[in-house]
Amino acid sequence: MKLAILSRAPQSYSTQRLRQAAHDRGHRVKVLDTLRFSIDLSGEEPDLQYRGRLLSDYDAILPRIGNSITYFGTAVVRQFEQMDVYTPNTANGITNSRDKLRATQILSRHNIGMPATAFVHSRADVRTAIESVGGAPVVIKLLEGTQGVGVILAPAAKIAEAIIETLHSTKQNVLVQAFISESRGRDIRALVVGDRVVAAMRRVASGDEFRSNVHRGGSVERVELAPEYEQAAVRSAQIMGLRVAGVDMLEGNDGPLVMEVNSSPGLQGIESATGLDVAGAIVDHIDNQVAFPEIDVRQRLSVSTGYGVAELAVGIGADLVGKRLRDSGLDDRDITVLTLHRGAAVIPNPKGNTELEAGDRLLCFGKLEEMRSMIPARRHRRAKVRKLPKDALA
Ligand SMILES: Nc1ncnc2c1ncn2[C@@H]1O[C@H](COP(=O)(O)OP(=O)(O)O)[C@@H](O)[C@H]1O
Ligand SMILES: [Mg+2]
Repeated sequence: MKLAILSRAPQSYSTQRLRQAAHDRGHRVKVLDTLRFSIDLSGEEPDLQYRGRLLSDYDAILPRIGNSITYFGTAVVRQFEQMDVYTPNTANGITNSRDKLRATQILSRHNIGMPATAFVHSRADVRTAIESVGGAPVVIKLLEGTQGVGVILAPAAKIAEAIIETLHSTKQNVLVQAFISESRGRDIRALVVGDRVVAAMRRVASGDEFRSNVHRGGSVERVELAPEYEQAAVRSAQIMGLRVAGVDMLEGNDGPLVMEVNSSPGLQGIESATGLDVAGAIVDHIDNQVAFPEIDVRQRLSVSTGYGVAELAVGIGADLVGKRLRDSGLDDRDITVLTLHRGAAVIPNPKGNTELEAGDRLLCFGKLEEMRSMIPARRHRRAKVRKLPKDALA
């Protein structure tokens, strides 16, 4: 394949390793400076110029978009997507993961363990926010910080309030998070490629520092991840829309707590800690997936007026329990079942002889009017059961 690595740091360890891995596998590979593209929307089809000339054809890109150029960088990635060039990380995925609040919001409905988090604007709501995450000590974070900069541990509520108000007064958005004391100075970085963790390490902070970032002097060691950690990492990356990601997790008393998902994970720390060929795994994954550029299903399908995607519940509306899919009448009503969700299991493209059970959920494409009666009632919010961290009770 012909691969473009989008990077502003051609000499960096990660870029060099990725380029070499692609080269060693017989691919054609170029490192292109993300900021030298021009997005060209003047012709009949979306196009790209590079350094003032029409870009040649590529099969895939690997975006390594730094924090300082998120807007332009994701615009370039989005343009490649419009041109049907494969990218393991979509513009949406990169945007979603870059903002710690946005990432936490997206993950929050998927049963993934995360530190309790709150986000407020008004001064009047700051105290409640601190209490809602379990009280001091709390961690305060700038939404778009990296490498540990912009992450503060506030030992007391008064101090937390003062910090938050100060940051608000300089127009900075911050989130408030429970301090996971049992994982103080330690966290796990899992490198996800496709649907598996290819390497994982534990980072340990130096001295009395609570942040374990390598840029804050943290040291790294290889770890074998427990299945629950692997699952949390892979699912988080998938939900964010990233096929290459560094997922950071705290080691909570009840299992993994996902803090953030990085779309351009550095390779030096993890390759040296584990001795594994992460760059090679990334290139192999891209090679394997290159025929399947991302399709925004919602965008493409909604072009058919009156049709759309919906999740239907068996047992609501039509009497489908115990029927085989082919006798369900869905087909006659112009409803196509894409996947069947039963408990934690997913059956893609369920066959006609599949017998439907109460509680099954069917992801369908079809006529909206025909599907209306089978849409489950909106979930009611449960009263919140708050788990207080141990030290909050002291
Ligand atoms: N809620 C928390 N409880 C305990 N430690 C935390 C918490 N949040 C962050 N940390 C520590 O601070 C480090 C940096 O936080 P993180 O959210 O990953 O920001 P960054 O993007 O700057 O790396 C983490 O690696 C971890 O060691
Ligand atoms: Mg981090």
